[in-house]
Amino acid sequence: MAVTSTTHATAILERDRELAALAAVVDSARAGRGALAWVEGPPGIGKTRLLDAARSRARAAGDTVLAARGGRLERDFAFGVVRGLVEPLLVGAADDLLAGAARLSAPAVAPGRADSGDHDTASTLHGIYWLVANLAERGPVLLVVDDAHVADASSLRALAYVARRVAELPVAIVLAAQSPVDHVEPAVVDALRDAATVLLPAPLSPGAVGELVDARLGPSPAAFASACHEATGGNPLLVAALLDAVLEAGTGPRSESVAELAPGVVAAFVARRLRETGADAAAVADAVAVLGGSAELRHVVAVSGLDAERVARAAETLVAARLLAPGRPLMFGHSLVEQAVTDRIGPAERHRAHRRAAAALADEEASAELVATHLLRTEALGDPTVVAGLREAGRVALAKGAPETACLYLRRAVAEPPPVPERAAVLHELGTATARVSYREGVELLEEAFAVAAHPIRRGLIALELARALSVTLAFDRALHVLDEAAAGLDDGELARELAAASVSLARRDPARRAAAAELTRTLRRDGRLPPQGGPALLAFAALDALQTGDPAAPDLAREALATTLRAYAPDPGVVLPATMVLVAIDHLDPVRACAEGMLASARRRGSTYDFVSASVLRAQTRYLAGDLTEAEADARLADGLAAEHEVHAARRYTVAWLVLVLVERGRADEASAVLDSSGVQGDLAYLLAARGRLRLALGRHEEAVADFLTCGERLAHRGIHHPGLLPWQVGVASALHALGREEEAVDAADQAVRAGREFAAPRALALALLTRGLVGGTVEPLREAVTLLGPTPARLELARTHVELGASLRRANQRVAARAELAVGQDLAARCGADGLVERARQELHAAGARPRRVAVTGVGALTAGERRVAELAADGLSNREVAQALFVTTKTVETHLGHVYRKLGVTGRDELATRL
Ligand SMILES: Nc1ncnc2c1ncn2[C@@H]1O[C@H](COP(=O)(O)OP(=O)(O)O)[C@@H](O)[C@H]1O
Ligand SMILES: [Mg+2]
Repeated sequence: MAVTSTTHATAILERDRELAALAAVVDSARAGRGALAWVEGPPGIGKTRLLDAARSRARAAGDTVLAARGGRLERDFAFGVVRGLVEPLLVGAADDLLAGAARLSAPAVAPGRADSGDHDTASTLHGIYWLVANLAERGPVLLVVDDAHVADASSLRALAYVARRVAELPVAIVLAAQSPVDHVEPAVVDALRDAATVLLPAPLSPGAVGELVDARLGPSPAAFASACHEATGGNPLLVAALLDAVLEAGTGPRSESVAELAPGVVAAFVARRLRETGADAAAVADAVAVLGGSAELRHVVAVSGLDAERVARAAETLVAARLLAPGRPLMFGHSLVEQAVTDRIGPAERHRAHRRAAAALADEEASAELVATHLLRTEALGDPTVVAGLREAGRVALAKGAPETACLYLRRAVAEPPPVPERAAVLHELGTATARVSYREGVELLEEAFAVAAHPIRRGLIALELARALSVTLAFDRALHVLDEAAAGLDDGELARELAAASVSLARRDPARRAAAAELTRTLRRDGRLPPQGGPALLAFAALDALQTGDPAAPDLAREALATTLRAYAPDPGVVLPATMVLVAIDHLDPVRACAEGMLASARRRGSTYDFVSASVLRAQTRYLAGDLTEAEADARLADGLAAEHEVHAARRYTVAWLVLVLVERGRADEASAVLDSSGVQGDLAYLLAARGRLRLALGRHEEAVADFLTCGERLAHRGIHHPGLLPWQVGVASALHALGREEEAVDAADQAVRAGREFAAPRALALALLTRGLVGGTVEPLREAVTLLGPTPARLELARTHVELGASLRRANQRVAARAELAVGQDLAARCGADGLVERARQELHAAGARPRRVAVTGVGALTAGERRVAELAADGLSNREVAQALFVTTKTVETHLGHVYRKLGVTGRDELATRL
């Protein structure tokens, strides 16, 4: 029976279209445009055979061919398939392959070479992409994944990530999956299929079946061939198996015998063969099946209980019987054979066999996950060693950035069940892993862990984790309660202070508890006992308090908080956000920018897209405030693109807010509107409300603008933030009311803003308020004061705006000469900020003031788009295209395209000229 597809005695029939399509994919990759093919069909239809054809073609052309297949067991092994693909490359020195961002793949593909620290999923995927990109530097590559329907989800996700960018690499990817595809992650399968040329090999025609018949049995009657076609539905594997059975039965090509032999032809064949080959062979076949259809001889020895000599002999018999493919590892010829063997093993025997397999693998110190794939399939017997093995595997999977896999192991560990004293710890680990996938489900498990934990230290550790997950799901009250409860059981010590710090951060949100939280902060600080984790957060909140009360210590506290958290492996957003808020409110932009740079460097080192996004947003904010709109747009765009791609919803609200705000100031309100709508981002985040209010103001939707700004103010007040320097919602309200002709209310709102500005002595906020007050009341004096106030601040955009508005007011008062002077200064400043809307407004006012219209030419650096500018800067810093791509989390091709545009716009010919032109 031709159930092995490793040797092809017969020609491949009726696959011209499929072969041409696969050739096109392989050749396209060779030509530098990577592509993807997805072969799908029932078992035996000829998928593997097609994959083999693609491999031969690529190999003949000298490409690197890497192949792996999914397996029932490997499915539970995070990145198992990817590891199978790249393992042959990593046996020797592979430093160039794991260079740059590719090193982020190490925890998944080469655990021995991994650096320490946790890895998030996005960074691992990014690393795998770069590993493939590095490999493709050496020449064209073909990646082949057979049986993708049983590939592990992490690997498929990585392949989909590569697939999305593959058009820019000389890399072909060919996958095969059994239909109907029933994968745990249907979305990933869909993504791959959508990106691919889909091939659905059809059943063979009666004519082709006739050819197979004649090739096997010699010239045979047409009626027999057509009976074979009908019985097998044209499935080549079933045809082969049926012909085998006919040959064995010795009936000759008689149509009547077909009906008799056809049913369950593979299962019948396997059963018959195993009877003939004897007990040792059957035991070896069972062991190979239990080991996942592909196994090392020594593992078969351990599972079957036979010695090596007997296993080797039985394996030979099985190869001769064409159940196993020749060679090592021991492997079934076809998945249908594997299935038939597996189906024969009883559940009790299967459990025992998996237990033996796990023990054997554990003995030779195989990877914890490999051991765990077997432990998962044993019967739950309350065995502590099983629990220990699964917990270890959970830790490994989590460190790889595969929390789903970790959950799988840990759920099974809970079900074992663990010894009573261990239960809380296992639930704690499961809850922590689950929270990485879904906070809501993580909360449930951590609550359970918290309820069963008895030891105060364990309870404290669980409480920290649970409170974090609870606050993400916005259950702040419960979070505080949990922290209090855990703290009550602890003596004073590091953990107790850590709990106190966590509760301070939370209590800040609650007006009723805010005062107590501030008091606790002061106590902890005075005693000099800031906890290592929560300490910087306390400093940041102390800074926020100081800001509100006008305490001059605010900037120092905020700076100290930032410095401390930046020294950590990963800076804590819970520190960065409040501390930078304080500094921004009082226009200390330098330390905020330095913090953003520090975070960017750290995010690159760790490959954390999430932190990269947060840091880019922060830098966008500082650049916006300093009136550097081109740069701000570049940061905001990059961050928003990444947040959208990686579906970091929490961060997306910030990226959209800043992008919208920047685009409005750039004079592109319609584009801002499109960004906001298409993002689908909603919610009552103060930043987002302020940005939307500003957009609506620009679009003339004044009623809605008023509502947004008022809600923004309420949000801030609810968080206890009254400092006017953070978000200019009050002046927004005043401007929108003014535009609506509700003058009295507008004056009131502007007056309030001015009072707040004076009360907090916040120059930028006060200047903005005065500007608005002047515009609302039609007086010039407040505008003059605003110009004076803004002079020493870094707020160039606001200064430009104030000059322009002052000029416009003077023009209305018929002081045309003075007006023109202000307008010219304002226009020039606005142009340097990249505030195109304001430039245009100044131009119109100048015209009205009798100046000869002057258009500010946009050439040179000003003509660069935000993305081009960002790439050009890094290239000018001496980074190679690959390094720029890795630093910006984009592909090399994107960098090349951008640089091409940059060269053309700047009229330079190479990167060495860039530095002088930027
Ligand atoms: N088009 C074809 N013409 C002739 N034989 C084929 C064809 N496709 C597959 N076969 C044979 O059928 C058997 C099953 O094919 P295989 O590729 O292993 O199927 P699948 O991977 O879809 O389960 C193999 O022996 C293979 O050589
Ligand atoms: Mg196959």
